[in-house]
Amino acid sequence: MRALTVEPLKADSAEVRDVPDPEAGPGEMLVEGLALGVCGTDREIIAGEYGWAPPGRDRLVLGHESLGRVRSAPPDSGFARGDLVVGVVRRPDPEPCGACAHGEFDMCRNGGYTERGIKEIDGYGSELWTVETDYAVKLDPRLEHVGVLMEPATVVAKAWEQVEKVGARSWFEPRRVLVTGAGPIGLLAALLGVQRGLEVHLLDVATEGPKPEVVRALGARYHCDGIGDATANARPDIVIEATGVSGVVFEAMASTVPYGVVCLTGFSPVGRRISVDVGAANREIVLENDVVVGSVNANLSHYAAAADALAKADLGWLSRLITRRIPLERFAEARQARRDDIKVVLELA
Ligand code: BGC
Repeated sequence: MRALTVEPLKADSAEVRDVPDPEAGPGEMLVEGLALGVCGTDREIIAGEYGWAPPGRDRLVLGHESLGRVRSAPPDSGFARGDLVVGVVRRPDPEPCGACAHGEFDMCRNGGYTERGIKEIDGYGSELWTVETDYAVKLDPRLEHVGVLMEPATVVAKAWEQVEKVGARSWFEPRRVLVTGAGPIGLLAALLGVQRGLEVHLLDVATEGPKPEVVRALGARYHCDGIGDATANARPDIVIEATGVSGVVFEAMASTVPYGVVCLTGFSPVGRRISVDVGAANREIVLENDVVVGSVNANLSHYAAAADALAKADLGWLSRLITRRIPLERFAEARQARRDDIKVVLELA
């Protein structure tokens, strides 16, 4: 079968190669890959900046935003041939830390976790893949064309859960959320905000292309005049930051209303320095009981929440988030994000 493989930390080593078909072991099922989402992490791995090969090997099968159809599953596993499924990204460390031992591998404390397509285990970027039935989630069959958005939706479901847990430390009835960045994470965060009945504001730099219209179609407000203007208009109780751009991150932290919660989900490049007034930010955070919380990855409960959120969403709106579909062998076209891209998807079938 064909698989998208890469030698981690070696730039331009990504290649579609023929590799042996996988065989499902005990407790696993065999899945035909349908689609694979491409995100910033994949682009970093392809650029040689991130990623780990499985122990004893040079190459890793890339891909963590999966969607596939079950070819064969163990009897009584709850899965059957033809089911639409998504594989979970992270696995707990073999000698689990406390969080991993409690199923919260997204909160791993010792860094010993592994991740499909990212850290030490092959990903889902192949025509066939296997997955443990305990680490797969069945999707509503209506989601066939958009189910590849599931993994970013899990990241966002966790971010919302974090915001709500932080908010719950005192009286909390948020009304307005500002999401920074109208990529897939930002737009899905906005969707979950709308589903919660909040007034949703979205900030991006795009003034044309699909983003402004996609935001409006959700019933959210679009801002493109910078973070200062967006926070002044939105007066957000909650900020979900999905750009990783240092200036935006810092402004977001410094501009919530009292008891504000800022959830950071974007990965910033390191080494880009900006000059900021940390004292002023500290003062505001303390005097307002604000919280800044980082959030990465997702555990099984977030997969369940994301599957519900996608099933409730308008399918037409979700499909507008997928702006390019590229056959696997042309993966090189997905390496560069284009101006009008929201989510780029590789077709595996
Ligand atoms: C993935 C997460 C993963 C993180 C760090 C992100 O792109 O969505 O599942 O934990 O990268 O490797």
